[in-house]
Amino acid sequence: MKRLGVNIDHVATVRNARGEKHPDPTYAANQVIMMGADSVTIHLREDRRHINYHDAKKICKIKKIFVNLEISMNDKIVKNALKIKPNYICIVPENRKEITTEGGLNLIKNKDKLKRIINKFKKANIRTSLFINPSIRDIKLSKKLNVDCVEIHTGKISNLVKLKKSYILELNRIKETSKLANKLDIEVHAGHGLDYKTTQLLTKIKEIQEFNIGHFIIGESIFLGLKKVIKKFKKIIRN
Ligand code: PXP
Repeated sequence: MKRLGVNIDHVATVRNARGEKHPDPTYAANQVIMMGADSVTIHLREDRRHINYHDAKKICKIKKIFVNLEISMNDKIVKNALKIKPNYICIVPENRKEITTEGGLNLIKNKDKLKRIINKFKKANIRTSLFINPSIRDIKLSKKLNVDCVEIHTGKISNLVKLKKSYILELNRIKETSKLANKLDIEVHAGHGLDYKTTQLLTKIKEIQEFNIGHFIIGESIFLGLKKVIKKFKKIIRN
């Protein structure tokens, strides 16, 4: 059964805009699970622009919630993540000036560092994923790094669909990448920039097991409410 992870970073973005306590990401984590999400994703960024260490610690303590913590390769953040002990980790590239995570990891440049980090999380029994671009080479490298899962960056296909440009090449790339990962026993996830339409397209790829969606869900909830939006996504991914 395909799973939906809801990224609640932007609940913290709204809270931080006022520097007060509302809306509370911990409350949001409980709510999205009650409304049908399979897991909660949070990104503890080095610049703490949304979720902070205190939020991450509190959310990871809630036993009934599967938490997917996105982190960079920064030593201090890795140390903090091992202390917080989420159920899942997704390692992502991070660049201070970016508005959001712009692409997948550079696996060639960072292979030794990634290997060390993945080993640490494996020892701690934390399911670990690498955020990568849809590339056959990166799947082969991910296998060598002995990672449990990969999350395919879907930003490119999402932009093509939004701009009404041809997305077939990119869709095929994601399909081929997912198939190879599956064959090599690496679980496949997808995330970034997804909305109803792109999720509908990608859910046809049977190898994709999990979708992690944030900005669109939180934005659309302003109009429809979280419960209805989560229900719509669940229906899309399970059809
Ligand atoms: N997956 C990963 C690894 C991400 O870094 C992000 C953005 O933080 C998402 C999913 C969610 O992307 P979006 O907010 O565009 O849905």
